[in-house]
Amino acid sequence: MARTPIIAGNWKMNKTPAEAVAFVEALAPRAAQFANVDRVVAPPFLALTAVADALADTGLGVAAQDAHWEPSGAFTSQVSAAMLQNYVDYVIIGHSECRAYLNETDENVNRKAKAILANGLKPIIAVGESLAQNEAGETVEFVRSQVSAALDGIAPEDMADVVVAYEPIWAIGTGKSASGAIADDIIKTAVRDTVGDLYGAAVAAGLRIQYGGSVKPGNMAEYMSQPNIDGALVGGASLDVDDFCALIEIASNAKDN
Ligand code: 13P
Repeated sequence: MARTPIIAGNWKMNKTPAEAVAFVEALAPRAAQFANVDRVVAPPFLALTAVADALADTGLGVAAQDAHWEPSGAFTSQVSAAMLQNYVDYVIIGHSECRAYLNETDENVNRKAKAILANGLKPIIAVGESLAQNEAGETVEFVRSQVSAALDGIAPEDMADVVVAYEPIWAIGTGKSASGAIADDIIKTAVRDTVGDLYGAAVAAGLRIQYGGSVKPGNMAEYMSQPNIDGALVGGASLDVDDFCALIEIASNAKDN
């Protein structure tokens, strides 16, 4: 079963609603021709509904950058997966910036993943090691533990809706990126094989796994040529229409067979 590539732009804390709509109105006609790739933007919460409206019927998808697991309640500042249901297709959870600054834990990532799936949405579960862990040779063990914890209790039939993004923390926003071969090796051993151990070979073979961390038009082809990499979770380069379109086009050409 061929895996459809997925390129997602994580805008982080960038763009007002007006800027976000102008961006996707420029993006959508140019990205329309690359329909063999799932093309997704993840604006800040404030711009989500406007972007969802602007992208209706374009074939492009929308992601939220987080979701609370409870449907509603006394959780000041939070937005629930249930509230996002009619506006987004995907929800990014477990991002290293949320783990570092917002107290995101493996346990909460797991709760969020279950709530997202229960509301008919698709989690993009971000995992990845720090520079210190990488240098200590702990990458595979650590990423394996993040993947196992995030998926705890998730039913095999829900796994078709799960995307995992491997983002080494030392590569995020730094201009340093893992080589295609190294990223592919970690994605294979720490993510795909872990899912294979938990769910069997067929589920592992169907799982879509992105690489993230300083992805640019200049290194995208190297990632897309790897057997285990099915796309990218992109920060900085997703804020520029030309660069983001170039990434989509490279992904489209790489898997166009
Ligand atoms: P950069 O592409 O800016 O390195 O960010 C990656 C990222 O964190 C995407 O979630």
